[in-house]
Amino acid sequence: LHVAVLMGGWSSERPVSLTSGEGVASALEQRGHRVTRIDMGRDVALRLAEAAPDVVFNALHGTPGEDGTVQGMMDLMGLTYTHSGLATSVIAIDKELTKQALVPHGIPMPGGRVVKTAELYERDPLARPYVLKPVNEGSSVGVAIVTAEGNYGDPISPQARGPWQEFDELLAEPFIRGRELTTAVLGDRALMVTELIPKTAFYDFDAKYTDGLTEHVCPADVPEDIAQACKDIALRAHKLLGCKGTSRSDFRWDDERGVEGLFLLEVNTQPGMTPLSLVPEQARHLGMDYPDLVEAILAEALK
Ligand code: DAL
Ligand code: MG
Repeated sequence: LHVAVLMGGWSSERPVSLTSGEGVASALEQRGHRVTRIDMGRDVALRLAEAAPDVVFNALHGTPGEDGTVQGMMDLMGLTYTHSGLATSVIAIDKELTKQALVPHGIPMPGGRVVKTAELYERDPLARPYVLKPVNEGSSVGVAIVTAEGNYGDPISPQARGPWQEFDELLAEPFIRGRELTTAVLGDRALMVTELIPKTAFYDFDAKYTDGLTEHVCPADVPEDIAQACKDIALRAHKLLGCKGTSRSDFRWDDERGVEGLFLLEVNTQPGMTPLSLVPEQARHLGMDYPDLVEAILAEALK
C-alpha cells in the first residue's frame, strides 16, 4: 500500500508526534509499504492531494490533528485514514465534553468544573488537593497539582508560577490519591492494564518521555476486579464515543476504596506510538510487535 504518515504539526506535542510518526513510517517500510512522510503544515491538504495515498496513517497528537479538524479535512478530500473520525475527535480531545458524553452512561469520572484562569488568582476553585489541567491538551502539558502545602503559590497569585498560566480556562478536578492505570483498546478488544509508577511527583511530560523516569508494570499488579473494570470501562468508553482503530483510556484508582475508587480521566484517540508509549507496550505483551500493531491499526482503517 501507499501510506501517507501525518506527523509533527504545531501542537505542544509536536516532538512526540514526530517520534510516533517516524516509528510508524519505519515499521510500514519494514513491512514493504510505500511511505510518504508528511510533517503537517498549513499546506497539508495540498501535500495529501499530491501524494494521493491509498490510506493516511494519522500519527498527530493534540490540536489540530487529534481534535477533528484534520479528520474533517480528510473526510472532505475523500481520504481513508486511521483512528477516530471527526465527531469522536471533537468530543474526546475535550476532557469536559468527554465527561458530558460518558457520565450519563454510568462511566465513573471525577467531578470538578471549568474555571477561568483569572479566577484562580482570587480563590481556590475546589478544596485542596486538586488538579488543574487544560481541557484539550495531551501528554500532561499544563497539568498542575495544587496541594494543601500550596505547591503553586498560596494563595494562587499572578506572581505564582504555574504551567497553567498560559491558558484562559482550566479544568479543576479533585485530586484522586492512589495509582495511575491505563488500558488500550484495539479494534473491539481491550488489551490489558498497565500501572505507571513515576519517580517524579506525578506522571508528567518528563516522566512520560524520559527513559527510566517511570516504571511500567504491565500487566498491572492489581486485583482482578479492578483490571476487569478498567477493561470494561475502556471498551465501553471507546464504543460510546465511537472511537475507531485504537484508543487508550487513562485512570486514577484510589486503592483504599476498591472498585468505587476507580475513575476514568480521559480517552486518548491518538495514543502515542513512541518507544516509551503504552499501546505498543501492551500489544507487545500480547505477542504483537510494533510493526504488527501498526499494520493492525491500518487494517482497522481499511475495514
Ligand atoms: N497524548 C499522548 C500522545 C498520548 O496519549 O499517548
Ligand atoms: Mg491525553
